[in-house]
Amino acid sequence: MDVEVVGRVLSTLPEDDDHPYRTGPWRPQTTEWRADDLAVVEGGIPADLDGVYLRNTENPVHPAIRLYHPFDGDGMVHVVGFRDGRAFYRNRFVRTDGFLAEQEAGEALWAGIADRPELSRRPGGWGARTRMKDASSTDVVVHNGHVLSSFWQCGDLYRLDPLTLDTVGKATWGGGFPSDWGVSAHTKTDGRTGELLFFSYSTEAPHLRYGVVDDRDRLVHHTDVPLPGARLPHDMAFTENYAIFNDLPLFWDPELLERGRYASRFHPDLPSRLGVMPRRGDASRIRWFEAEPTYVLHFANAYEDGDEIVLDGFFQGRPEPPDPRGEGVYQRMFRFLALERLQTRLHRWRLNLATGQVREEHLAERYTEFGTINPGHGGRPHRYTYAVTQKPGWFLMDGIVRHDTRTGAHERYAFPEGVYGSETAMAPRAGSTAEDDGYLITLTTDMNTDTSECLVFDAARLTDGPVARLRLPERISSGTHSAWAPGPALPRWRDTDTAAEAIGL
Ligand SMILES: [Fe+2]
Repeated sequence: MDVEVVGRVLSTLPEDDDHPYRTGPWRPQTTEWRADDLAVVEGGIPADLDGVYLRNTENPVHPAIRLYHPFDGDGMVHVVGFRDGRAFYRNRFVRTDGFLAEQEAGEALWAGIADRPELSRRPGGWGARTRMKDASSTDVVVHNGHVLSSFWQCGDLYRLDPLTLDTVGKATWGGGFPSDWGVSAHTKTDGRTGELLFFSYSTEAPHLRYGVVDDRDRLVHHTDVPLPGARLPHDMAFTENYAIFNDLPLFWDPELLERGRYASRFHPDLPSRLGVMPRRGDASRIRWFEAEPTYVLHFANAYEDGDEIVLDGFFQGRPEPPDPRGEGVYQRMFRFLALERLQTRLHRWRLNLATGQVREEHLAERYTEFGTINPGHGGRPHRYTYAVTQKPGWFLMDGIVRHDTRTGAHERYAFPEGVYGSETAMAPRAGSTAEDDGYLITLTTDMNTDTSECLVFDAARLTDGPVARLRLPERISSGTHSAWAPGPALPRWRDTDTAAEAIGL
């Protein structure tokens, strides 16, 4: 392995930090690395694995003003690139405006999600909740050859070079970027049309907006999606012809919101509403469907099947878990992070455009979340969803599940005790035709050996274990959302003799 330290950032976190999400598997990093020819611990790198796996991470460097929530950490993106049977790695902080200002100040300047906005030390800020730091630490996608990192409370989309991870700017979309509300995490890319679909939400009416960016980075559609009040959509879905929005009965208490207080509450007496709109349509053409009350953090995919829209996502059986009174502030905050407390199950809604009827069912009983599919099937029929299981009580991924939605079979690969993975991306094998002909990729944090690895599995044989285990330069913090981008979709991918040259080694 050929390794070089390319940067270190200022951290003011205490040596004796005892925060459960800044220690152990969540211990943040301050070093930025560049490595080539990653050491193969086991197996071999498939020669037909060609492209990059990207993962975003909440990686804080300053104590919070009052309470730290793991969704507040600064964005750090990791990339493992595979080319010609070799692999390289880089990690970089996203140089957001907020991150740079806090590096200069040497302290946190904006309140986190668990704190009141007025605690912020600087005026202004970002997010639907206002006065937060846009940490760009939530999601990561690749569109038009750029990595875009994003923030779940809405903010800028930071553009990173997919090979070096240098922050090269923000998405502007030819001046069309909606800077007033920002854009939410979980933009959707449609590989067949080259479009990016996005949504923004706000406490201001009409509360939700939706847009389309084309394959030349132009904002070609932008429209209101009026909701009855401020909502907390975290994800959307799309099919070949439709965009699908959600109005779910977990939202900020409207009375408290009037007083500038942000407290989310579940309203089990209200239905879930799922809105289906033509991808280039407007509010006059939206159809709303009512379904069982729940909250959905993530959808896996959607597609059209005759008159029906098939929508797969993770249904929460208990969106507001009971308050564990007496167990301390952290346990109260973090009950919303534990899948077994939320009871999240892979679920299918069938929305009939002819009759207006909804049919829905759990596709699996096991608690899973963070489902991904073969990216070539986005918006089109899919059979397999690759999701994760969690260590009970913790926001830590302890296994990968392959859900076969046709047969109902669910296979699980469990990481060894003390090893935690991240959202697993599916990388179709170069030249593949079958949906599961490809690889599953994840990054691990191993508390037994104080190391991290990139694991590659055969997507059709998950339970056989990894076909390759690659060592990263140091143990990285646990993190979540990921993306796969095939090499040919990236600029400069084949401009050099080796991938090492492409990343500047
Ligand atoms: Fe998310």
